[in-house]
Amino acid sequence: MGTKKYLSAAVLEATNQCHKGRVVDLFAGMGSVAEVHHRVRQVWANDVQHFSSLNNKCRLTYGENLLPTKLDNFANEIFQSNIDVLRSQTANEHDHFSNVFATADYSIFASSLQSAREADRIFENGYCCFSNRYAFTYFSLDQCFEIDSIRYLLEFLRGIGRINQQDFDWGVLCLGAAMLRCANTTGHFAQFMKPNAQNWQRVRRQFKKSILSTWQGALVELEPFGTPEWRENNHVTRSDALNALSNKSLAGEIGVVYCDPPYTNDQYSRFYHIWETLVLYDYPAVTGDGLYRTGRYTTEFSSTKRVSSAFQQLATSVASIGADIVLSYPSNGLLHEVDACPRDILCKHFKDVFIHSETSYHHSSMGASKGSQKHQVTERIYVGRHAR
Ligand SMILES: C[S@@+](CC[C@H](N)C(=O)[O-])C[C@H]1O[C@@H](n2cnc3c(N)ncnc32)[C@H](O)[C@@H]1O
Repeated sequence: MGTKKYLSAAVLEATNQCHKGRVVDLFAGMGSVAEVHHRVRQVWANDVQHFSSLNNKCRLTYGENLLPTKLDNFANEIFQSNIDVLRSQTANEHDHFSNVFATADYSIFASSLQSAREADRIFENGYCCFSNRYAFTYFSLDQCFEIDSIRYLLEFLRGIGRINQQDFDWGVLCLGAAMLRCANTTGHFAQFMKPNAQNWQRVRRQFKKSILSTWQGALVELEPFGTPEWRENNHVTRSDALNALSNKSLAGEIGVVYCDPPYTNDQYSRFYHIWETLVLYDYPAVTGDGLYRTGRYTTEFSSTKRVSSAFQQLATSVASIGADIVLSYPSNGLLHEVDACPRDILCKHFKDVFIHSETSYHHSSMGASKGSQKHQVTERIYVGRHAR
């Protein structure tokens, strides 16, 4: 999902050369750059997506995840009650299931899956947001039942005061992690895998994974970053980067703003749509091959027409609060395609601008709109400082 984990040590070296004070990770994604600052600076992590913001709240500001990692009898009954409500509304599902899972023949598998996907199936009772939208696409029907029923369980437990909002958020975050591990995809939610003679066994394997036990594994694994004292003074927001820094109550004491904006014309919301629906659980209309939420967020940084002005605004807003800037941007980024250059833009707003480092690597396009491709790319880390 565009993580900068592999670059985070270099980004830390760059921010170490900047003004003292809080670091803002303005396009924080999964918070890997915010994380590496845990011994050196307080952080403010911002991203426009709900799931990213949920991840950053849990890992950068909350206490330990205290949700029990096994369902007790009471929780199991609640979970099971939603599964039963969903199962009671299915007809012939058993046939679909056994056709899809029992065969050793690819063409039987592919045609059974197709008819399972197209089956007339509408759930009207129980928590059914995923069961109604994604059965036999990103997830099998049983996996959708599990997702809906874990979401139901968490809301139920919060409703009766058995768990608090932090526990609830950890539960949803771990469910998101489990969904990615079990999904019928190549590692992201831009599209689900259509079976072919080569990959169909993998599709079947993914469909068979248990969301419930993977969720319980994630509850054990996922932990907050840094110390409780550090987390207590961090901030997390969910805002458009171009407006975030105008938040006056948070804008004091900022030393440096780290920017890792999108760099292609593939909108990030294509990778997050399933997670957004998990967090919002708002039964959205979905469209197209990827079953994307309608009205999903689009960013100016992924628009050929607007990327240049978005960078200008970004540099203006960072400079206006007196902070230094560190920017990661690859040599094949969209801004270069419109014949603009990050360095020139930074030079208009910062006195001392330099390239801190250049890292070459093979970059995968993650099977997005142009298909899966690998390119040789140079990722540059730019620094813009005010005069000392
Ligand atoms: C390249 S990724 C950042 C990855 C992050 N550094 C990490 O290590 O996980 C870009 C992020 O910017 C977010 N984003 C895109 N447009 C945005 C905007 N206008 N304001 C805030 N966040 C935005 C996307 O949701 C995505 O998480």
